[in-house]
Amino acid sequence: MPGGGVVAITGTTNVDRVEAPVTVRAYLIVAFAAFGGIFFGYDTGWMGGVLNMDFFIKQYTGAEYPDVKFPGVNHLDQSVVDYRKSTFSVPPWQQSLTTSILSAGTFFGAIIAGDLADFIGRRFTIIMGCGIFTIGGILEAASTGLGVMVAGRLIAGFGVGFISSIVILYMSEIAPKKVRGAVVAGYQFCITIGILLANCVVYATQNRRDTGSYRIPISVQFLWAIILATGLALLPESPRYWVKKGKLDKAAAALGRVRGQPLDSEYIQDELAEIIANHEYEMSVVPQTSYLGSWMACFEGKISQPSSNARRTALGICMQAMQQLTGINFIFYFGPVFFAQLGSISDPFLIGLITTLVNVCSTPASFWLVEKVGRRPLLVFGAAGMVIMQFIVGAIGASAGKNTADHPANPAATRAMIAFICLNISVFAMTWGPCAWVVIGEIFPLTIRSRGVGLSTASNWFWNCIIGIITPYLVADRPDSARLGSNVFFLWGSLCCVSFLFAYFFVPETKGLTLEQVDKMLEETTPRTSRGWKPHSTFAAEMHLGEKNIEIPVATEKVTAKHETV
Ligand code: BGC
Repeated sequence: MPGGGVVAITGTTNVDRVEAPVTVRAYLIVAFAAFGGIFFGYDTGWMGGVLNMDFFIKQYTGAEYPDVKFPGVNHLDQSVVDYRKSTFSVPPWQQSLTTSILSAGTFFGAIIAGDLADFIGRRFTIIMGCGIFTIGGILEAASTGLGVMVAGRLIAGFGVGFISSIVILYMSEIAPKKVRGAVVAGYQFCITIGILLANCVVYATQNRRDTGSYRIPISVQFLWAIILATGLALLPESPRYWVKKGKLDKAAAALGRVRGQPLDSEYIQDELAEIIANHEYEMSVVPQTSYLGSWMACFEGKISQPSSNARRTALGICMQAMQQLTGINFIFYFGPVFFAQLGSISDPFLIGLITTLVNVCSTPASFWLVEKVGRRPLLVFGAAGMVIMQFIVGAIGASAGKNTADHPANPAATRAMIAFICLNISVFAMTWGPCAWVVIGEIFPLTIRSRGVGLSTASNWFWNCIIGIITPYLVADRPDSARLGSNVFFLWGSLCCVSFLFAYFFVPETKGLTLEQVDKMLEETTPRTSRGWKPHSTFAAEMHLGEKNIEIPVATEKVTAKHETV
């Protein structure tokens, strides 16, 4: 609409017109947001390696370096191995604390961010997260002991909580339906790259005998904060946020930018109409009168009904819990420690690096799978695959026996275990890794979406934290641990059986639908019948939007985008 004016939107009855076509530039906007995953991955990735660094261990325990205590003795010699196990390692409670305190901060960060994103917007919440994260990072880098490190991890975690939940929300709200799953899987890809980068940096600095050993890996993170905050400052806000706020002119302008279309395009009018009509419908079903009321709305309705808010909130929370209980972070957090215990491995760091590389290389397959095969089958078959892999690892470990002085390690068994651990990572990376994020971005109605995503993300971090706390006590070869060793894989495998049942009975198929159509599908199907559902009406038609005469002023917006569609 050159020259400005108002546009009255009526909406469409055509179910194929509820989303505007998208330009290449618009795809790039969505893809950039995935960068937030780097934070998440990097921050979870560096701690495990640092805990195993000689300089760091000496700083935390005050014990002498093994090569100083046993000059000239090979580092695989039993006396050195025993010294490392008994004395030269960070005590389990400190390992637990430094690892899991990040997740504790993230837990609260994710919940608060869900709240904030409805008040100050998705973009500003993420930018604020970058700022908080930087403060925490400065403390981590400055620390020379437990206290300041823990404080830094807690604050940085708070920032990561903001970023990890709101990036998902933002991406799901602006991504076109056809590629929404793939783009959110791109976020998971960035998580894996973050973990890999952390491992590479840790690998490069592990042998330094100065504070650079851990300060360098920590300081690299500032780069991610600067890139994400600067990029987001330039990107448009989510149009769905503006609809929720009742600012329809801003919603139209934002939608025009994320779709790369001019404001007076009929496609933009129709998509906007559908978002508005859906929001009106949701508000009529569960009205939100007050601040407390809007929180209560997350738990409204019968849990047995797939479309109720209570059911969707439970689905998101359980989905993320199940993802963590697959045990994936056992490998990424405690990989180097666990591989060292297996014996017959001269460089546990390197194996850690390989596992993270497998994670990175397997994830891109999910970009295609999540749109072609769908979320539900990936989750069901992914869980089944992980059950098989983890039970095999446990069985090999059990038959090979413990790595002790009178029963030395079996190199062939160790290699086979590592191979199946890598296959397990691969299955995770193609299925539960991305899908858990994709699904939580899609199942909530706009009225409770930010809080629902925040609560679900908080659940991810809660379980992440629990795993961080308990794992050293499960596997470490110390008197205060359960010494499960490789039997821990039987535990993760059994939990994957639960994930399998959960996915089969409770996860609906959301591929190819707009977020508004997901609402309708949940009302009309059960998870097991959801795959066959096809959109048959629009919210704009059902809510009689045409009769309400909703007008959007578009006078101030400069329209520069071309009608170039892909
Ligand atoms: C999980 C993380 C995990 C990562 C591994 C993510 O989806 O939430 O906890 O470390 O995947 O790639």
